[in-house]
Amino acid sequence: MIKIMSVFGTRPEAIKMAPLVKKLEADPEIESVVCVTAQHRSMLDQVLELFDINPDYDLDIMKPNQTLTMISANVLSGIEPVLLKEKPDMVLVHGDTTTTFITALACFYQQIPVGHVEAGLRTYDKYSPFPEEMNRLLVSRIAELYFAPTERNRQNLLREGVDASRIPVTGNTVIDALLDVAGRPYEFEDETLKNIDFENKRVITVTCHRRENLGEYMANIFNALADIAREFDDVEIVYPVHLNPKVRDAAAKYLGGLRNVHLIDPLSYQPFVNLQARSYFILTDSGGMQEEAPALGKPVLVVRRETERPEAIEAGTARLAGVERQSVYSMAKELLTDEASYLKMAHASNPYGDGHACERIVAEIKKYFEAV
Ligand code: UD1
Ligand code: UDP
Repeated sequence: MIKIMSVFGTRPEAIKMAPLVKKLEADPEIESVVCVTAQHRSMLDQVLELFDINPDYDLDIMKPNQTLTMISANVLSGIEPVLLKEKPDMVLVHGDTTTTFITALACFYQQIPVGHVEAGLRTYDKYSPFPEEMNRLLVSRIAELYFAPTERNRQNLLREGVDASRIPVTGNTVIDALLDVAGRPYEFEDETLKNIDFENKRVITVTCHRRENLGEYMANIFNALADIAREFDDVEIVYPVHLNPKVRDAAAKYLGGLRNVHLIDPLSYQPFVNLQARSYFILTDSGGMQEEAPALGKPVLVVRRETERPEAIEAGTARLAGVERQSVYSMAKELLTDEASYLKMAHASNPYGDGHACERIVAEIKKYFEAV
């Protein structure tokens, strides 16, 4: 038996690791152990419940308004006894959060090999996204196996000198999660969503939470959305607001009280996928939604200065809208008024995989242990 420990802590990590944990649990040659840091609490628990995952360990570290130092210190000290007790053959981490990097660091201290799921994404701007770009760079120095979602991600790692035999291209596990959940029958339970007229209104789904957007940029983005809401009567903006108090305060300040803007609590993944699928377009600074939108055939305006997911832009479904009020407003307006421009973006083209990424990752892990 190969003992594989999966460690994650935030909503997006959980969504993207859930289908992999399921595959690991089902494999007779693998003993699967799950440790959550709970860097997020309720937004993590929503995912664990949906995918029916019961973690073996829960570090429960989340604090309101936590700083990067607080997360780092608490994950590092919390994970060490778990690693010492379980002595896994490999630890899997995902992407670029502080949970991800600090777990990889703790594994390095114990000389436990790390498998990096969603490896090789880069903006090459160390402060944007912050701290994610540095987190993933540092994990890349520690990891043993690199599961690259796309060929471009693999090329990034090759340029940094990573051994080619350690970088299988697997597709992104988010597509595995998306296809699973989108395929389940579902009707909205949320009162706000039940009352939205998806047939006659154009719904814009919004999320915005990134640390580097907090402050001036977020104010610009929200002001642009308020401009759109006031100008277009047939538009309904639905924004499930991240639980970060700084984000919630800004959303309430700039968007509260507008008739056609609905600020609601974070949705569980199943209603959220259904909301995206029924939207006219999506406006977000999320990484994962840039991967989901092309698979759903929904135009996505990315409210960031850059993206580590250029595949979505090349596929034609995503556009970088920047973080200025005028640029965000005019790109949103274009999608609402220029049908040709809208139709050019609204087609399903999925550069992120076929929904079988998790199978490939499990096969690569077994291959690695056969060879060592
Ligand atoms: C984190 C990740 C980011 C990822 C994002 C996904 C880091 C540094 N950042 O950012 O890469 O894109 O998650 O959402 O790893 N909160 C709650 N309940 C929750 C979740 C969050 O109350 O279930 C509040 C808490 O006050 C917490 C704050 O949100 O302190 C911020 O959470 P944190 O994980 O530090 O940062 P995110 O912006 O969520
Ligand atoms: N998501 C969700 N409920 C919401 C908002 C987002 O389930 O209310 C999902 C979304 O579909 C995507 C993931 O959460 O899969 C993105 O997470 P987040 O925006 O927190 O992080 P990021 O993608 O920016 O790392």
